[in-house]
Amino acid sequence: MKVGIIGSGGREHAICYAIKKSKKVEKIFCIPGNAGTHDIAENIDLDINNFELLKEFIKEKKIDIIIIGPEKPLVEGIVDFLETNKIKVFGPNKLASKLEGSKIFTKNLCKKYNIPTAKFGVFKTKEKALDFLLQCKYPLVIKADGLAAGKGVYICENKIQGEQAIKEIFNGKFGKANEILIEEFLKGEEMSFFIISDGINIKNFGTAQDHKRVGEGDVGLNTGGMGAYSPSRLENDVLNKKILDKIIKPTLRALENLNTNFKGFLYAGLMIIENEPYLIEYNVRMGDPECQTILPRLKTNFFEIVEATINQKLNQIDVVWSDAKTLSIVQCSKGYPKTYENNLEIKNLDKIILTENEFIFHAGTKISSSKIVSNGGRVLNFVAKSKSFKNSREIVVDLINKINWKNGFYRKDIGYKVIDE
Ligand code: AMP
Ligand code: GLY
Repeated sequence: MKVGIIGSGGREHAICYAIKKSKKVEKIFCIPGNAGTHDIAENIDLDINNFELLKEFIKEKKIDIIIIGPEKPLVEGIVDFLETNKIKVFGPNKLASKLEGSKIFTKNLCKKYNIPTAKFGVFKTKEKALDFLLQCKYPLVIKADGLAAGKGVYICENKIQGEQAIKEIFNGKFGKANEILIEEFLKGEEMSFFIISDGINIKNFGTAQDHKRVGEGDVGLNTGGMGAYSPSRLENDVLNKKILDKIIKPTLRALENLNTNFKGFLYAGLMIIENEPYLIEYNVRMGDPECQTILPRLKTNFFEIVEATINQKLNQIDVVWSDAKTLSIVQCSKGYPKTYENNLEIKNLDKIILTENEFIFHAGTKISSSKIVSNGGRVLNFVAKSKSFKNSREIVVDLINKINWKNGFYRKDIGYKVIDE
């Protein structure tokens, strides 16, 4: 079979790697891919926002299944478009993708179906939002409604910061804003919880914890994710059941009542307070870098799972996990998440021989004049799988030192809560 993967990050490289293991898969196209996917797939330089061009390419190459990695094409309806054109695709449709595409849609759904989440208010004008701040306790969380590449969330310590956030959002920092979300600050520990659904059946797809802040000790600016580990230390059977019963299942019921369903990965960003889950946000895709830690723990053939999801036969698959602890560290370009330089050569990658429990998933890399060069803020994901998080982190740091890329930096403290505390 021929498989196409849309995206160019570490998540998509990890997906390519997992798909490649299937004997059924004869060819993988990665659109547009990176220097890592180049080794195992054919990279195709197409604009992933141009659905018409994508469709023509998929038809021309007779690609059997398309897997969508990132959220933007999902929220813009790529699944509906490709399915209308009789192309088999792994990912949720446009309506289901509103779970990530509109935070206000999700909050209203939580209210209607009694899904535990932070208390909230929706405000249609700057004046009403500013007025509301006068009666609030701090910290307070203010959010832009739509996709904002992880940047539309403000944790405000006081009224002045709140006013600034409201003004920035209504002044269009994240696109035209008709509404704004203000919510209570929840104090607990975060956990990323994943399921896979075929529209009828669901299976757990692991837990993880990522580190979003750029600095060690979780300080500084927000990033796409500086590292992650799996499983989350909070995972336990009682909590799993609560998450499914109180959050995931009511959400899927809500979609059914809207005459749709969810196919693909659903990622619940949760706050856990005294073993009780609260929904912070939904993503309608795998997490990045969580995916790079979850897929290496999967024992079941990943392509079988993808096929079963598309054919609505997930009930026939046993999804089996290794007990190992995986940890990933993201090496970033110096300056990220602010400005940084691209096109800097990364040497030594070809000199590294990886064991079966070590992985280097590329993110912002490309090939230029037969050399691997940087092409983004988050550049390489180093991942190790072992019996303990401590050991995995040591292996990862060793790998990073072997590459010794002078233009990069990384957080040495990924997983500190499960390793050092
Ligand atoms: P989001 O993009 O919604 O995941 O928000 C980014 C980050 O902001 C989350 O990972 C949390 O750390 C934090 N956050 C968002 N909403 C809340 C909340 N209601 N209470 C506490 N922290 C929050
Ligand atoms: N690591 C966070 C995300 O993928 O949204």
